[in-house]
Amino acid sequence: MPPDIAVTHISPAEAQAASRLEKLFSRGNAFLGSRVAILGGAMSWVSERHLVAAISNAGGFGVIACGAMGPALLEAEIAATQALTQKPFGVNLITMHPQLDELIAVCVRAGVTHIVLAGGIPSGPAVRAVKDGGAKLICFAPALVLARRFEKSGADALVIEGSEAGGHIGPVSLTVLAQEILPHIRKIPVFVAGGIGRGDAILAYLEMGAAGAQLGTRFAASRESIAHPNFKRAFVRANARDALPSVQLDARFPVIPVRGLVNEGTKRFLEMQAETVRRFQAGEVGKEAAQLEIEHFWAGALRRAVIEGDVENGSVMAGQSVGMVTKEQSIAEIIEELIEQAIAALAQRA
Ligand SMILES: Cc1cc2nc3c(=O)[nH]c(=O)nc-3n(C[C@H](O)[C@H](O)[C@H](O)COP(=O)(O)O)c2cc1C
Repeated sequence: MPPDIAVTHISPAEAQAASRLEKLFSRGNAFLGSRVAILGGAMSWVSERHLVAAISNAGGFGVIACGAMGPALLEAEIAATQALTQKPFGVNLITMHPQLDELIAVCVRAGVTHIVLAGGIPSGPAVRAVKDGGAKLICFAPALVLARRFEKSGADALVIEGSEAGGHIGPVSLTVLAQEILPHIRKIPVFVAGGIGRGDAILAYLEMGAAGAQLGTRFAASRESIAHPNFKRAFVRANARDALPSVQLDARFPVIPVRGLVNEGTKRFLEMQAETVRRFQAGEVGKEAAQLEIEHFWAGALRRAVIEGDVENGSVMAGQSVGMVTKEQSIAEIIEELIEQAIAALAQRA
């Protein structure tokens, strides 16, 4: 049995499977400095010091979600995470953050080894600032053309996130993205995300050429997650079909798709859009103001659900993988379960 994938009471077939899994994870582990190349995807309000440190301490790779934090808050969060873990972890920055340069500088000064630039195509200066600072750059590639562009322009690794994921999503499923991108991007590691809840699924993507996987939803409901008990309970109760993308009512007023649990808030969002479109058509409100009203509907809503526990009116972002959250587990339990499922799937073939 390889020393790094710890499984007790294993048969020879399982030992062989563990060794094979170790090999499949080896590129991702070498890149992340982890024991298992499973990233805890950054989740605003959820991915803070405790969850990030717990994921890295359990052998995975935690990622702080900077979200709307300013430089001082981010600096404190990084220091607090470093106090809780000796293991590497990353920081996810949103490209359109008005203080992106300062946030990158904070990460570099604190010795953060991996920076994820999310929410858009990073600018040349942002890419250079990360690289010149000595950190590894991870980008999100929603299509093969962009994956190729990032590979050329200096990204050290990519995440491909399918529309099954929780939070802001693109239009294409991971099943398709993986087929489109994995065979063609070989120079840098590619991590898969979206809808992953089991180890055998991770194994399938590793065998297709992925370097590892990124999970959000399963970790959000973990014991170490600071999310409100109501938020975690909603995850445990929900099925895959409850995690739906936000609905856009009128082509003139675009809505960025966000996948989350359907609740009173999502119903009111539809009613609100209908009323706003009516007022626009009646000439009571201008187009720009109407668009802003629609965009502002969810302002602060994720915090309301995650921190305050208002899962009826807040935004309960969750991936379709939510159906595989069946109880509140520790991060270590979740990671070991994922590894065991992958090993069992491999061993069964022997
Ligand atoms: C509650 C929640 C909040 C999220 N917030 C962010 C975010 O701030 N930035 C980001 O890049 N991704 C965000 N994500 C996406 C995750 O990082 C991850 O890629 C996704 O959850 C993977 O799919 P899964 O939920 O099916 O595991 C969020 C996901 C969830 C569930």
